[in-house]
Amino acid sequence: MKGIILAGGLGTRLYPLTKVTNKHLLPVYNKPMIFYPIDTLVKAGITDILVVTGGPHCGDFMSILKNGQQLGIKHLEYAYQEDEGGIAHALSLGENFAEGDSITVILGDNTSDSDISESVANFKEGALIYLKKVPDPQRFGIATFDPKDGSKIIKITEKPHKADSDMAVTGVYIYDNQVFDFIRQIKPSGRGELEITDVNNKYIEKGQLNWSELKGYWWDAGTFDTLLEANNYWAKKAKG
Ligand code: G1P
Repeated sequence: MKGIILAGGLGTRLYPLTKVTNKHLLPVYNKPMIFYPIDTLVKAGITDILVVTGGPHCGDFMSILKNGQQLGIKHLEYAYQEDEGGIAHALSLGENFAEGDSITVILGDNTSDSDISESVANFKEGALIYLKKVPDPQRFGIATFDPKDGSKIIKITEKPHKADSDMAVTGVYIYDNQVFDFIRQIKPSGRGELEITDVNNKYIEKGQLNWSELKGYWWDAGTFDTLLEANNYWAKKAKG
């Protein structure tokens, strides 16, 4: 299994911090943000990794990651996303890298101490997404469960005004190679982006979307408050 980290975008929610570097290189306690998703992949035995990035500061990744060996990566590639086409568009740039295989995808602003190695090792086909209970569902992709079978997801809604549940789709996904066909089938959303939620809904239509709860700590660090929260969590954890 190979891994893809999506680390593009302009990070406008974190202006002016992201005027000088890419969001995913901002500090989360004693490391740049992207070290955390890399660590999650490497701990799950995934050492062949593609970083998809873009924007004015994309060269900064090379300065700090280099060939990734100091982080346990065996093979590191970079892809450049031309415009802000959304998460699914960024992922589409990984098709050649995937070489027909399944992939584990993590959003570069998601930090977690969850161990996903078992589900990575056992993954066969379809998609596996990880959910986590959140206090503010309107910020995320949110799962709607079948009223007759509470464990079955019938749809995912991106940033719902009125959420059907408080179970958010985290930025950790495992996909088989169909994902690239599904991305070709979807259309840009109201915010002009190819949404990963629409890709996940394609898997639901095919009856091939599985989910599991992400154990341990997880938070995206894409806003000032969540960045502060992530910093506090990882600082406390590092100090024991
Ligand atoms: C993205 C996804 C959303 C997911 C979230 C997790 O949102 O679109 O479905 O719940 O990441 O961090 P964004 O960070 O682009 O607003």
